[in-house]
Amino acid sequence: MPTWGHLGLQDSASPLMEQLIFFHDHAMVVLILITTLVGYMMSTLFFNTFTNRFLLEGQTIEIVWTVLPALILIFIALPSLRLLYLLDEVNNPSVTLKTIGHQWYWSYEYSDFLQVEFDSYMIPTNELAEDGFRLLDVDNRTVLPMNTQIRVLISAADVIHSWTVPALGVKADAIPGRLNQVSFLMNRPGLFYGQCSEICGANHSFMPIVVESVSVNSFLNWISSASDA
Ligand code: CUA
Repeated sequence: MPTWGHLGLQDSASPLMEQLIFFHDHAMVVLILITTLVGYMMSTLFFNTFTNRFLLEGQTIEIVWTVLPALILIFIALPSLRLLYLLDEVNNPSVTLKTIGHQWYWSYEYSDFLQVEFDSYMIPTNELAEDGFRLLDVDNRTVLPMNTQIRVLISAADVIHSWTVPALGVKADAIPGRLNQVSFLMNRPGLFYGQCSEICGANHSFMPIVVESVSVNSFLNWISSASDA
């Protein structure tokens, strides 16, 4: 989860988020190399007087400074496209979760099971437990099994919201009249926090998302007790 002064990405909880972090680091290395090279060349030109009154063209250097950036861009574009297609892949989900954005809370439906649906509201600061996370904890968490392929169907009832969990590498807009989908696999247990990521009105900041990743057995226990109620 996000912590004070944390500038990087959150620790991944899914293989795809791990790949996203690798791609981010790769792009940053390329960026630093380009910035260093261009910075060096600019400062060199600034502190020297390389003047040639008879220079009109330099075919060789022009080919180099045209083709080289194109090659560098390909080395960013190809991994980016690979990730894009990996993220869109939905491989035989075992559990489907439907989430609907409302002003201003999320509601969840486990349509694989009977009568499992509930609303998930943020816990207001004055009702927060001693160990609670302000503006982040909710009254009903979204419990999901780990090491299981999960599909989330996302829609909205009123205005556009966005269902986002950074540690899982998922974000999709919740749009009225449209059903979006994301898919992920959680490779460790834990609580993964997210926030609505589409400006949706006065309480946009106060409709967080908490995914509770548990073992398959714990999930089945939870879902059967939820079904009874
Ligand atoms: Cu819902 Cu922003």
